[in-house]
Amino acid sequence: MTIWALSDVHLAFGAPSKTMEVFGPAWHDYAAKIKQNWEKIVQPGDLVLIPGDISWAMSLEDALKDLDWIDALPGDKLIIRGNHDYWWPSASKLKGILPPTIHFIHNNAFNWNGITFGGARLWDTSEYGFGDAIEYVENPRAKKRSPEEIEAQKEEAERIFVRELERLKLSLAQLDPKAKVRIALTHYPPIGKDLRPSRAAAILEDFKIDICVFGHLHNVRENSLPFGTARGVRYVFASADYLGFTPIEILK
Ligand SMILES: [Fe+2]
Repeated sequence: MTIWALSDVHLAFGAPSKTMEVFGPAWHDYAAKIKQNWEKIVQPGDLVLIPGDISWAMSLEDALKDLDWIDALPGDKLIIRGNHDYWWPSASKLKGILPPTIHFIHNNAFNWNGITFGGARLWDTSEYGFGDAIEYVENPRAKKRSPEEIEAQKEEAERIFVRELERLKLSLAQLDPKAKVRIALTHYPPIGKDLRPSRAAAILEDFKIDICVFGHLHNVRENSLPFGTARGVRYVFASADYLGFTPIEILK
């Protein structure tokens, strides 16, 4: 029973006009690459964490085309919402509609084979930066903004970020105290690449999280895996394009 992670798969079976194929050769035939690599390494008893930006679909009906595709891959899957998962409904609706092998975190915790999982999406924050590692997927549709608009957006981002920190605490408070390993999923990175203390990292430390898995960043050019272990928490960056569309092993 191995735990894997693969974030930001950005599937577009339900919204074909939004395919990631336009974002350069790395994304060429990306769904086929994911399927091939996944089937090579993930066994039926394994669990794959997908911390957000799962489907480009705008409606639940369209998202189900992507979710059914994920369901057909080996293993159980655990998902959390990313900033592009516009299709994501209420927790009660999600519960009734998700295919059988897909589980979710939405202000709750999830337990699997003695391991407990929680998390929250988080959001953009000016608290830490990522240099060249930028999310470029929205740029082709982005409008030019005035300095006032940029400032207002920063304030709004901080408001959302603070709310997400509360949601992170709400979820982690429900972790199983008897579990042998405690894993958090966040869509946005909870810490900078330099691993300096951050508000989100402090929450993970308070709740004695062993591993935190996240994605969101694209275009990361480092040759070795960025992030690492700080103050007891191992930070694993799992964006699919960075990992060559192959799930990364989190725990055996
Ligand atoms: Fe994202």
